[in-house]
Amino acid sequence: MKWRPLLLSPLLFIFLVSISTVFHGLVLSHTIPEERDHQHSNKMRLELIHRHSPQLIGKLVHEASNNNMPKSQQERILQLVLRDTTRHRMISHKRGQYGPNSRRKNWEFNTSIEMPMHSGADYGAGEYFVQVRVGKPAQKFMLIADTGSDLTWVYCSTRNTHKRRQGNHRRVFHADRSSSFETIPCLSNMCKVQLADLFSLTTCPTPITPCAYDFSYIDGSAALGIFADDTITVGLTNGRKMMLDNVLVGCTESTQGAAFKGADGVLGLGYGKFSFATKAAEKFGGKFSYCLVDHLSPMNISNYLIFGGTRNEHSLLGNVRYTKLLLNVIPSSYAINVKGISIGDVMLRIPFEVWDANVGGGTILDSGTSLTILAEPAYKPVMNALGMSLSKYKRLLSDIKPFEYCFNSTGFDQSLVPRLVFHFADGARFEPLVKSYIIDVAPQTKCLGFLSVRWPGTSIIGNIMQQNHLWEFDLVRSVVGFAPSSCTCT
Ligand SMILES: *[C@@H]1O[C@H](CO)[C@@H](O)[C@H](O)[C@H]1NC(C)=O
Ligand SMILES: *[C@@H]1O[C@H](CO)[C@@H](O)[C@H](O)[C@H]1NC(C)=O
Ligand SMILES: *[C@@H]1O[C@H](CO)[C@@H](O)[C@H](O)[C@H]1NC(C)=O
Repeated sequence: MKWRPLLLSPLLFIFLVSISTVFHGLVLSHTIPEERDHQHSNKMRLELIHRHSPQLIGKLVHEASNNNMPKSQQERILQLVLRDTTRHRMISHKRGQYGPNSRRKNWEFNTSIEMPMHSGADYGAGEYFVQVRVGKPAQKFMLIADTGSDLTWVYCSTRNTHKRRQGNHRRVFHADRSSSFETIPCLSNMCKVQLADLFSLTTCPTPITPCAYDFSYIDGSAALGIFADDTITVGLTNGRKMMLDNVLVGCTESTQGAAFKGADGVLGLGYGKFSFATKAAEKFGGKFSYCLVDHLSPMNISNYLIFGGTRNEHSLLGNVRYTKLLLNVIPSSYAINVKGISIGDVMLRIPFEVWDANVGGGTILDSGTSLTILAEPAYKPVMNALGMSLSKYKRLLSDIKPFEYCFNSTGFDQSLVPRLVFHFADGARFEPLVKSYIIDVAPQTKCLGFLSVRWPGTSIIGNIMQQNHLWEFDLVRSVVGFAPSSCTCT
């Protein structure tokens, strides 16, 4: 473990701080020599494992996380809904508080939380896990892949903390065993300015004290630790490994409130200067993609998060269409410009403000939200139109909250359901599979898989809606391409 310069004259110190800042701007990562020449022909591949997947069993250390698996489909869906609700609230608060007048440490507001949250699994960080290797030599972790946040962090012990951790059975990153671990001084511009949005703290008892964070979540839980740069080792599609150097990694020394049960930390895949997604994408032509299979009826097919061009990685079942990504419009998120929804080729009457991020609306694509969430003025017409088309099936009024429209699916023929299409402002159309919005909730019971939020509010195209499509995010051109796919690799 390398702590930044210990005994320095103030001038030399300031010089080094500036150098390290420049360094941060320029040298994002470097490849190990033999890979350097082929960096664009290779792709980096991380397997995405859904939190309900049997593949996850045994991979998480925390014993409680493994028997947290839902016992029935209904329980499974209700768990998803619970986390979606929390996550939506987090995204909304993040939006509100990143306004022009407020920038840092303003999670301190009194919100009413309707739901108790007892585990990290519930805090809304995301639905997929990835295995990531941190440090040199590499230490392995299962992190939650979160497309809604920028900070990558792992439970961690430094020489200051590891004594206290004895007896704790969680998997931790031993920072002192990593030769590439480098803290960031609290006096640096990096700490004071650039990391402010990631909740860096202003306290700085000595110039070389590592830059600390207090990353708070709205349920009152928090991850506290110090920022560092370290190496992350990733697998390539050709079977080799590549090291990404100087990736910003939070070394979380403690958490407060609800524990982040199950996961060893979070992989920040949001759009932000220091997110893992941005850094890794820079190395691989600015692109990353994923293709998610149906996790409501799990098959033994792996989902992958791939950095690099993916056109020939997945078997596509249709043309790739593109729409503009609105980066920096909604913090950390991948916003897209939806302008309408049609059902059975009839455009629904939805006020255009719903789609306008500048007036509190807007839509994001989010892999960490399961269901699709619509602001109320969009939710109502969608539910009405789909409900009408299902009127020949027996509506079930016994409540499967929060679903408003469920029906007895005996004899259901999805080919007779009018198709729902999202229309983007630039003309692209996204036509999800029927099973992505008429979902199985219990035996012989299907429900319209939408949640509503009050206006003004952010609409979210969740991971169930995105299933069976390849989504390729191009951060250089600010577009997202999508195409129907079986999500099996070629
Ligand atoms: C928040 O609630 C606490 C106690 O519930 C109260 O003491 C505090 O003043 C409140 N803060 C604000 C900003 O309303
Ligand atoms: C899934 O596939 C893997 C490898 O192909 C196999 O080892 C495992 O038993 C399969 N699991 C199920 C639930 O079919
Ligand atoms: C659905 O309808 C069938 C046939 O009418 C009936 O046997 C079954 O119990 C119903 N299921 C539910 C969940 O209502």
